[in-house]
Amino acid sequence: MKCRVGKTAVWWVVGAMAAAFAVQAVTPVAAQDRRATRPQVIRPTGPVWQVIRKNCTSCHGIDDYAFFAMDRGGWQTLIETKHKDHPVSVSEEQRSILLDYLVSKFGPDSTAFPRSYVPPEITEFLSDPEATRVLSRSCVSCHDMKRVNDSRFAPDRWRVIMVAMRERGAVLTDEELEGLVEWLGRVKGINPNQ
Ligand code: HEC
Ligand code: HEC
Repeated sequence: MKCRVGKTAVWWVVGAMAAAFAVQAVTPVAAQDRRATRPQVIRPTGPVWQVIRKNCTSCHGIDDYAFFAMDRGGWQTLIETKHKDHPVSVSEEQRSILLDYLVSKFGPDSTAFPRSYVPPEITEFLSDPEATRVLSRSCVSCHDMKRVNDSRFAPDRWRVIMVAMRERGAVLTDEELEGLVEWLGRVKGINPNQ
């Protein structure tokens, strides 16, 4: 493992800005945020979004849905019990649209996002060969590397994906996971200068 100060210095050319970015780039991503990682649910489109927007998002967002993987009955009970004190009244038709969506995205065959993953602090970064070794060991049994290579995300989003991949069966220690988050964020992040 080696630190990447040298490389960073080559990428950033001018003055104070270069210095600022270099400092930021060598601070391990995970060290900045020690809270449990939360899922990120992509907003659905079509009628179900209208139902959710009208009835659900005034109080909280939709990310928490990913903490569950349940059948229709389970979803119905959860929504009823969670809102005992603030009854949420939706029409039969709206409820049916909502439950169809919840079961299709967060049904019993899906994998619930864990509530507990807290990123460990990492002090060493993966080199390119090290990252490639972990990826080719842990990430090619279900889909090919194209799935990884074609993706561009900020580190936080990579972390959410890695935690979800691990829940699905990818074999990764916490340290490997964070190493990949840092490496992927650096090499396949959303910074246009990468
Ligand atoms: C009036 C405010 C309010 C509205 C509207 C509302 N919720 Fe909630 N919801 C809450 C509160 C408060 C909790 C937390 C209850 C608890 O933990 O006991 C919650 C919890 C939940 C949870 C569990 C979250 C978790 O992490 O455990 C889900 C899922 C959920 N709501 C879905 C929905 C859906 C779907 C709708 C629309 C049909 C909706 N909520 C509308 C207030 C609301
Ligand atoms: C046990 C099977 C499995 C393993 C192992 C696995 N994946 Fe996945 N991966 C999936 C499935 C299934 C999807 C599609 C998920 C979806 O569309 O909700 C996916 C989707 C993805 C995506 C696209 C996510 C998005 O939001 O666009 C990326 C990136 C990804 N995997 C990266 C990885 C990496 C990196 C590893 C190794 C750490 C890995 N996967 C290991 C099953 C797996």
